[in-house]
Amino acid sequence: MTLLQFHAAARTADIAPGAVLHVQVAGNEVAVFNIGGEFFATSDRCTHMRGRLSDGYVQAGVIECPLHFGKFDIRTGRALSPPCKIDLAVFPVRVEGGSVLVQCCTLSGT
Ligand code: FES
Repeated sequence: MTLLQFHAAARTADIAPGAVLHVQVAGNEVAVFNIGGEFFATSDRCTHMRGRLSDGYVQAGVIECPLHFGKFDIRTGRALSPPCKIDLAVFPVRVEGGSVLVQCCTLSGT
């Protein structure tokens, strides 16, 4: 069975404004972004050829993939420039007590 749950992913203090952090959340590779004090989470794998987005360049709410320089809107996951055509998965985020919680799918036992 698949469950949607919020999982502790990072401490807010570990992600400076304008920065991105790679985390594993319930088996998912996730990029957590701090955009002007607001936190967002997307898949950490580019939809083009799976470049690691947390190694990319963040500017004005946009992440640029380090492999072929495709861009995505961090808030919506929308693919903004070639070679990326497929939008990025985005995950709901909550901040509680200095922790960033990310909602991801979890597989539970039978
Ligand atoms: Fe990201 Fe190609 S792998 S643009």
